[in-house]
Amino acid sequence: MISAVLIGCGQISSNHLSAMLGIPDRVRLDAVCDGMAERAEALALKCEAQSRRKPLVFSDAKEMLSAVKPQFVAIATGSGSHTILANLALDAGCHVMIEKPIGLSLQESRAVVEKARLKGLQISVCFVNRFHAHVQRLKQAIDAGRLGRILHAAVQARWNRGNSYYTDALWRGTWAQDGGALMNQCIHGIDAMQWLIGDQIARIHGVTRRFQRPIESEDFGCGIVEFRGGAVAVIEGTVNAFPNNVEERLSIFGEKGTVILSGPSLKKLETWRVDGDDETTVLAEAGTAGPVGHGPLYLDFFNSLEAGNPSVIGFDEGLRSLELILGLYKSMKDGHPVEFPLGDFSTVDMAGVLDPKRKD
Ligand SMILES: NC(=O)c1ccc[n+]([C@@H]2O[C@H](COP(=O)([O-])OP(=O)(O)OC[C@H]3O[C@@H](n4cnc5c(N)ncnc54)[C@H](O)[C@@H]3O)[C@@H](O)[C@H]2O)c1
Repeated sequence: MISAVLIGCGQISSNHLSAMLGIPDRVRLDAVCDGMAERAEALALKCEAQSRRKPLVFSDAKEMLSAVKPQFVAIATGSGSHTILANLALDAGCHVMIEKPIGLSLQESRAVVEKARLKGLQISVCFVNRFHAHVQRLKQAIDAGRLGRILHAAVQARWNRGNSYYTDALWRGTWAQDGGALMNQCIHGIDAMQWLIGDQIARIHGVTRRFQRPIESEDFGCGIVEFRGGAVAVIEGTVNAFPNNVEERLSIFGEKGTVILSGPSLKKLETWRVDGDDETTVLAEAGTAGPVGHGPLYLDFFNSLEAGNPSVIGFDEGLRSLELILGLYKSMKDGHPVEFPLGDFSTVDMAGVLDPKRKD
């Protein structure tokens, strides 16, 4: 039984709680922590209501780690504190699950991954879409060569995040703590796309805008990704879709196959035109995406831990979407495409880039 703690008891924390309670023979949530103590208390009570066991409550992560001495730490705080807390957890000898993105600085995030590797600890980032049945089916088909050479891919996150989403949690939409539509919302589709294509990036061209939201970062971003093997991906992410979320969509075009996933969290298998398959039969059989969210991610993590293997999103896997999005940002800042691999870059390097130019 692994002793677990959770840092950050805000909006996404319930997903971590449910995932842990879903594998009660593997993980025991011993403590929860939030700088806003009432949030930690509320989550502890929720845990008690669902499992008849109340975790200890802390408002300071360092204090919790030294008092509880857990083996596993889940980090669900605002994105700007992910690497600081991951370092604390790794230094305390814990395996770590980090909410997306792994961090906001490439250098700091790479250092966290390296530290985990050197200490022989597991680290993973919450890219839950990779575990959806349709995404898994598509990954297996691509890896088996069933779609032939991959020619191009498209990722779209056409969402709405109203002004209150940002005013409810002031870290959101800042360069120091978050990033914008690409880093916070579109990152799930971007991660799935780059994982499916499975190739190194050669070059990226990005364009971003802050059209209307009351934030520092982009409320719209788009880009073109050129992979070393020749495939090209088109990315489009917005939080401005009027009046509500419109869709999330991931399309893959290969020499011998076209597959499109859509719907919230890519749960719908919309198109499956793969050489040798009958589309109607595949779509009818596919049904829903099955269990989605943090449950399958936690299961994979703890299975991998027991087997001594990295999880599906172990080590460098969590860095890939961060590097891609920071590449889009850097390209916007520099005004031309950027070559990969990217050197150090961070969201804070974008400060002022989207601000209106002074006309003096
Ligand atoms: N995987 C997903 O589908 C998904 C969905 C939403 C959010 N997220 C990610 O989860 C993270 C949290 O998002 P949220 O919407 O739950 O945010 P939130 O603002 O609702 O909650 C974050 C909580 O962390 C606490 N906190 C911040 N720094 C802390 C620290 N040093 N020690 C202890 N507590 C601290 C805050 O007080 C707050 O209660 C973000 O990184 C976000 O990108 C992931």
